[in-house]
Amino acid sequence: MPLVVLANREPVRRVGGGYQVAVGGLAAALYPAIRRLGGAWIAWGPGGQGGRIELEGLTVHRVPLSERRVAGYYRGYANQALWPLMHLFLERFRHRSGWWRDYRAVNRAFAEAALAAGGEGAAYWVHDYHLALAPALLRERGARRVGVFWHVPWPPLEVLAVLPEAEALVRGLLGADLVGFHTEDYAERFREAARRLAGAEVRGGALFHRGRRVRVGAFPIGVDVAGLEAARTRLVERARAIRAEHPGRRILVGADRLDYTKGILERLRAYRRFLTRRPEMAGRVVFLQLTSPSREGVPAYRGLRARLLRLAGALERRFPGAFVHRYQALDREELLAHFAAAELALVTPLRDGMNLVAMEYALVSQGLPLLSRFAGAAAYLPGVLLVNPYDEAGLAAAIGEGLAMPPAERRARRQALLAAVRRLDAAAWAAGFLEALG
Ligand code: G6P
Repeated sequence: MPLVVLANREPVRRVGGGYQVAVGGLAAALYPAIRRLGGAWIAWGPGGQGGRIELEGLTVHRVPLSERRVAGYYRGYANQALWPLMHLFLERFRHRSGWWRDYRAVNRAFAEAALAAGGEGAAYWVHDYHLALAPALLRERGARRVGVFWHVPWPPLEVLAVLPEAEALVRGLLGADLVGFHTEDYAERFREAARRLAGAEVRGGALFHRGRRVRVGAFPIGVDVAGLEAARTRLVERARAIRAEHPGRRILVGADRLDYTKGILERLRAYRRFLTRRPEMAGRVVFLQLTSPSREGVPAYRGLRARLLRLAGALERRFPGAFVHRYQALDREELLAHFAAAELALVTPLRDGMNLVAMEYALVSQGLPLLSRFAGAAAYLPGVLLVNPYDEAGLAAAIGEGLAMPPAERRARRQALLAAVRRLDAAAWAAGFLEALG
């Protein structure tokens, strides 16, 4: 039975003149299953072009999208309406009916491309908030086995209700046989939305809608455990070099896409507070914040970039040597080497569907992450230092606590954390979801 994955982003990277499956992330997690079943990946073709990429056991089908469609579907509806709403940023929510038309049209184009690639008897796995309507579109057109995974949070009904198309969105997802979320809280809120907006009946953990059973559950994603553990030895040298760039200083690290959900400004202010209250530390620590550019076509992100660069610049000037901001897309090895060099990671999103940084950090370093209680991962990771990223004083105090932690406590916490991270393996996540889908 072939497997057809539908995801906005394609799973490949350019290597020399050709393409390879991307290392890490969703693509790496799914690739073993796809290769086994033989399958296809439907994605937005960068630059708007269509066409196919043939890889071993996987064909990538690029859906051609005009610049106008991308503006409405991706920069508009997905990233200015759905993204802020799912993350409870109501004041960032924007809406235009034209965006919705583009979103619907692109979901149709994805569904059609998927059906053409999959044919009779295929299983379909739809990913994330870009493609909420695809499950129902696939089913209407004859697909019989459809799963969907929602990688971002699912909000409470009062927030979802702000979206004029909330009901259509929920009905779109109810076209699936299995709807997956990272946490049981998100799953429970979705059941409630399905009951109230689409008249679904809730029995056990499942929903009954239009005579069909739709299962809803939590499938927490993890990281590539074996790959990261294998990377450790490889990273030693580069990690040592990074430490040597900051002699006499203990290293803290933060790594994020530039996004208002990540709480980067709040984190920097908490660090400023920490150094202001503990001036003796300014010569003994350095915080390396690594920020990769993201969604630059969306106005809110450009505004945030300007504010972040101003604040980061002011910190670098005020505390020379104690703060470094790198604003660039880092390659994965370089990112992991920074993790390996640091003894504390600040993973403090204001809201996050799951967040994998704390897990990656735990596997390649000897340190502990401070983790926001508003990341889905907080439900699964014992041992971390849980923080409230909105609480500047609390976060500043937690940084001090993390640095002062006795080695025995750190070891015990790491042990609990690593056991949990190893259970949350990415390939196991993909296999578990597909097994539940049948
Ligand atoms: C989040 C979303 C993903 C998305 C990623 C990067 O993690 O859940 O679906 O791919 O952000 O954002 P971008 O807009 O660059 O794809």
